[in-house]
Amino acid sequence: MKKITEICCIGAGYVGGPTMSVIANQCPEINVTVVDINQQRIDDWNNTNLENLPIYEPGLKEIVAKNRNKNLFFSTEVDKAIDKAQMIFISVNTPTKTYGKGKGQAADLKYIELCARTIAEVAKDDKIVVEKSTLPVRTAQAIKSILDNTGKGVHFEILSNPEFLAEGTAIDDLINADRVLIGGNDSPTGQEAKDALSQVYENWIPKEKILQTNVWSSELSKLVANAFLAQRVSSINAISALCEKTDANVQEVSKAIGFDSRIGPKFLQASVGFGGSCFQKDILNLVYIARSYGLAEVADYWEQVIIMNDYQKRRFAENIVNTLYNTVSGKKIAMYGWAFKKDTNDTRESAAIYVADALLEEKAEIVVYDPKVSEDQIYADLDYLGSRSSSLTRELLKVVDDPIKATEQAHAVAIMTEWDEFKTFDWVKIFENMLKPAFLFDGRRLLETQKMEDIGFKYYKIGQS
Ligand code: NAD
Ligand code: UDX
Repeated sequence: MKKITEICCIGAGYVGGPTMSVIANQCPEINVTVVDINQQRIDDWNNTNLENLPIYEPGLKEIVAKNRNKNLFFSTEVDKAIDKAQMIFISVNTPTKTYGKGKGQAADLKYIELCARTIAEVAKDDKIVVEKSTLPVRTAQAIKSILDNTGKGVHFEILSNPEFLAEGTAIDDLINADRVLIGGNDSPTGQEAKDALSQVYENWIPKEKILQTNVWSSELSKLVANAFLAQRVSSINAISALCEKTDANVQEVSKAIGFDSRIGPKFLQASVGFGGSCFQKDILNLVYIARSYGLAEVADYWEQVIIMNDYQKRRFAENIVNTLYNTVSGKKIAMYGWAFKKDTNDTRESAAIYVADALLEEKAEIVVYDPKVSEDQIYADLDYLGSRSSSLTRELLKVVDDPIKATEQAHAVAIMTEWDEFKTFDWVKIFENMLKPAFLFDGRRLLETQKMEDIGFKYYKIGQS
């Protein structure tokens, strides 16, 4: 079997960047080139000031600093990198379709198809093409059909190797992966390709954690893993609503059920709703696939996970309005956190976007503070929804870098992201800054109830009456 020494990855995003940095770090004998059509993104990856990398992930900048321009390269020269590589990872975005058939549910595969066509055009010798992006079941077949019709006699072997990293813990997830999944054909060349990729991972992942399956099982497993994880969050969030109506405390319920080894303690943290680029997109895709095979009950079952998540976000916003005497018009509300979870600058599908949008509809004046998200990104997220003119959004919502000053004359503070630094804020000073009664809505169960009530806050914590 040919040993892999040249890897190319198309897509320098949240998956491509960290994943390839870790491969380069763990495999010094492999040259890894990450390419992207976005010049700014590549410039940011090559920035000598490591604070300006396009992605914030704990531990990432150290790995990039150690390997960049040794065996890790970031470039816009897509064709050159494809030509040189024996193995090509496709790690481009696969967002939910916003047009045409499957709009709002199916994955948009136009970027994937473009990659396949570029590979087909450029490749002069045999290549292993690895789907790293999350893709609907049977996408490999479409990629293969494009690649096999080049007429150049080049042999392509397609593998599915979905990525399971979570943002905020990407480096640790990649280094200490629970498992690596490799799907491929059972033919001799298919087996050889699976083994070649396995060998790359065997540089640091124990062999028994590297699973080989057929392509379709691998593609489907990725969607199913995300659906199961999101289902747990929606399940506990459904219970959080019930807890708020009774004297039950959702954290006590999570702990009590999580002690059952069959259930386990992880992913039972009630919140203002899950966000991120994957959960909603992948479940919608699963729902679309099930429905397109005529499996209405299966589709409805999984769709409920999304419906519950939308309810949780809406419920949080409505509670703020109801508690502030049924109107937030002209009232200042400080929002702490915009990222979809802590330790990332990613805001895709963040609950904060939808809660802010609902409050802006009620004409609230919002002040946002997030330690890692830029003002431009926050406005872009709201503009994308198209609920109002961008000038009105900029009039009603301000982005600040002083979280304490932001609370001057505020009616309420809403915690949207569980950033650790929020716990260390001077909450006495915040209380003093605010109008009274001072309302604090904790969408992440980050603060201590007794402490906040002792300070004088009217403190609402998700999942507790
Ligand atoms: P991303 O948007 O951060 O990055 C994708 C990159 O691909 C962008 O920089 C874009 O410019 C580039 N690109 C698009 N088309 C291109 C082309 N033809 N040639 C070169 N570059 C091109 O996306 P992401 O979050 O890294 O996700 C990538 C894939 O991985 C998606 O399928 C996603 O579902 C999956 N995934 C994401 C995560 C996550 O935590 N973000 C985890 C697991 C899997
Ligand atoms: C997820 C999967 O975990 C990962 O395996 C996959 O590769 C990509 O999708 P990610 O979206 O980056 O990762 O983060 P994750 O930690 O799963 O959190 C997703 C959302 O769920 C966040 O908004 C988070 O705050 C929320 N969440 C998670 C909860 O509200 N409660 C929990 O108990 C866990």
